[in-house]
Amino acid sequence: MSGLEAHYAARDIEARILAALRAAGLNPEQRLSPEDLGALDHFHTGGLRASHELLELAWIRAEDRVLDIGAGLAGPARTLAASIGCRVDCIEMSPDYCAGAVLLNRLTGLDDRIVVHQGSALDLSFPDATFDVVWMQNVGMNIADKHTLYAEVHRVLKPEGRFAFQEMTAGKAGTPYFPLPWASDPADNFLVSMEEMRSLLSESGFIADLFEDTSDVHLSRTAANATPAAPGLLGLAVFVDNLVQKAGNARRSLEEGQVRLVRGVFLAN
Ligand SMILES: C[S@@+](CC[C@H](N)C(=O)[O-])C[C@H]1O[C@@H](n2cnc3c(N)ncnc32)[C@H](O)[C@@H]1O
Repeated sequence: MSGLEAHYAARDIEARILAALRAAGLNPEQRLSPEDLGALDHFHTGGLRASHELLELAWIRAEDRVLDIGAGLAGPARTLAASIGCRVDCIEMSPDYCAGAVLLNRLTGLDDRIVVHQGSALDLSFPDATFDVVWMQNVGMNIADKHTLYAEVHRVLKPEGRFAFQEMTAGKAGTPYFPLPWASDPADNFLVSMEEMRSLLSESGFIADLFEDTSDVHLSRTAANATPAAPGLLGLAVFVDNLVQKAGNARRSLEEGQVRLVRGVFLAN
C-alpha cells in the first residue's frame, strides 16, 4: 500500500459509519437525508456549503451527466443528485471510501442515480465526450501529474462541458504544516500556484468561466468555529484519523499563506 493509499484507508468504515449515525440519533433503517450527513461526508474545505455554492456557479441541470473525481464518501455526489436530480458517476481511489459511499447512497435512496467506481483519476474508464460536467473537490492536491489529470478530464467532457472544482493551491509562504487532511507528509502533497493551474488548464484546452481565490472568505466565515467535530459525533473524525491536528494545520497554513483555497468553472474548448 502506498503512503497515499494508507492516508485514505479506513478499516471497517461501514461499521464505523453505522455506529456514528446511531450515536447521532439517526436511524439507518429509515431513509436518511443527504443534508443530515453533511458534516460526515463532505471531506473538503467549506463542507456542504461549499458544494452548494459550486453547484450553482457551475449551472448544473437535472439532465446533466456528472462525473465526480476523487469522490470520497460521495457526499458531494449525493448533494448534486438530491438537489438537482442529475445522474452522477463517482471515481474514487480508496476501496474503503468506495464502500462507505455505496452504503450511504443506499441509506439515502440515491443508489439509482449514483454509481461508484473504484479507479484512478489518471485513467478514467469512460469513453470520450461522456459527461456534461466533471466535478472535483479537494483532490488535485494529491496528484503530481496534472497534465494527465486535466487531459483525462477534457477527454471525458463533451464539447463546451464544464469542469467545476475547488482545491488548495500553493501560496507564497513556503512549506505548509503537516500532517494535512489530504497528505500525511510532503511526499503526497502536489500543490501548484493558481497561475500555474490556470496555464496547465489552458494548455489542456480549457477556458476559464470563473477562477477565484476564496481563502479570505473561507477564513472569515470559519473564524468562530474552526474546531472540527470531536470523535464520536457525526463528523469527518469517524473515518479520518488525527483530524484535529490535520484540520488545525490546514487552517494555520491557510492563515499564514503557505496554501490558498481556489475554485473554478472552466469550459472544455
Ligand atoms: C480530501 S478527499 C475529498 C473527497 C471528496 N471529493 C469530498 O469532497 O468529500 C480526496 C479524495 O481524493 C481521492 N483521490 C486522491 N487521488 C486520487 C486519484 N489519483 N484517483 C482517484 N481518487 C483519488 C482520495 O482517495 C480521497 O477520497
